[in-house]
Amino acid sequence: MQDMKEISTIKEAKQWLKPYQKKNLKIGFVPTMGALHEGHLRLIRQSENENDITVCSIFVNPIQFNNPDDLAKYPRNISLDARLLTGNGCDMLFCPGLEEMYPEGKTENVDLEFGLLDKVMEGKFRPGHFKGVVIVVKKLLDIINPTNAYFGKKDFQQLMVITRMKKELGLKANIIDCETVREDDGLAMSSRNLRLTIGERQVARRIFEVLCKVREKGTKTPVWELREWAIKKIQEDSRFRVEYFEIADRETLVPLENWGQASQAVALTAVFLGDVRLIDNVELFL
Ligand code: PAF
Repeated sequence: MQDMKEISTIKEAKQWLKPYQKKNLKIGFVPTMGALHEGHLRLIRQSENENDITVCSIFVNPIQFNNPDDLAKYPRNISLDARLLTGNGCDMLFCPGLEEMYPEGKTENVDLEFGLLDKVMEGKFRPGHFKGVVIVVKKLLDIINPTNAYFGKKDFQQLMVITRMKKELGLKANIIDCETVREDDGLAMSSRNLRLTIGERQVARRIFEVLCKVREKGTKTPVWELREWAIKKIQEDSRFRVEYFEIADRETLVPLENWGQASQAVALTAVFLGDVRLIDNVELFL
C-alpha cells in the first residue's frame, strides 16, 4: 500500500490521477464532508476492494446547507480524518478550499429537472439543499472522473437524486449504493450524532426502532394509519419532534397514499432530537 497523498487543488488532483487513468485502472471515489465515522470508512474499504485506487474528498459544501447554524456547527477535524483514511486504504485525499471549488463564489449550475424527487421531504424542508448537492457532486465527479462512486443509503433521497443525475447526464461513473452503518443500538451513524447530549444519545435509537416496527407492520396496516402511528410513537418522548415521516415509492420517492401505488417502498423520516436533526430510513419489501 502506498502512502496517502493529500491534495488541495483541482489541477494537482487531475495530474496525480492521470497515470492511473492512462493505464485504465479502476478508480473508486468516496465524496464526503469530513467528520468521518465508521459509515464513511466502510465506503472507503468497499472502494478499496473493488478498485485499484481509492480517492476520498472532504469538502464542507456551503451551498447545500439551507441553515447557516447547521453549517457553522458542522464538525470539522481534517487531521483526524486524514489519519482514519490512511489506515483504511485511501490512496488520495482531495480537500479543496472554498475558493478552489467556487472561485469568486461562482457555482456551475446543473440544469436538470428532477420532478418531485428533489422537492419532497429533504427537498421541502431544506430548500436549495439538493441543488447544492448536485452542483458539488457533478463538479467532484468531473475532477476525479472515477469508475465507481460510493454513496450511503442513509441519505436515501440524495442517492436517488444522484442516480437520476447520472442517468440524465449520461455520467460515466457507476453510482454504488451502500447499506447504512449503525451503532450497536441501531442509531444510523452520522456526523451530527456527535452533537447529541449524553441523554439524547441514550434515547436516539427510538427512530430506528419505530422504522423497524413500520417495516414489520408493513402492508397489514393502511399507509396513512401506519404513518400517523409512527409519528405518534416517535413523539411519545417529548424530546423528539418529527419533521416528516413518509412512506414513498422507492425510486420516485413520491409519498404513497395506498400500498397498491408502488412495487417497492421506503419509509423515510427526519426528526429533531433536541436541536439536532437526524434522518433515517428503511426499505420496505412489498
Ligand atoms: O453526503 C454527503 O456527505 C454530501 O452530501 C456529499 C455527497 C459529500 C456532497 O457534499
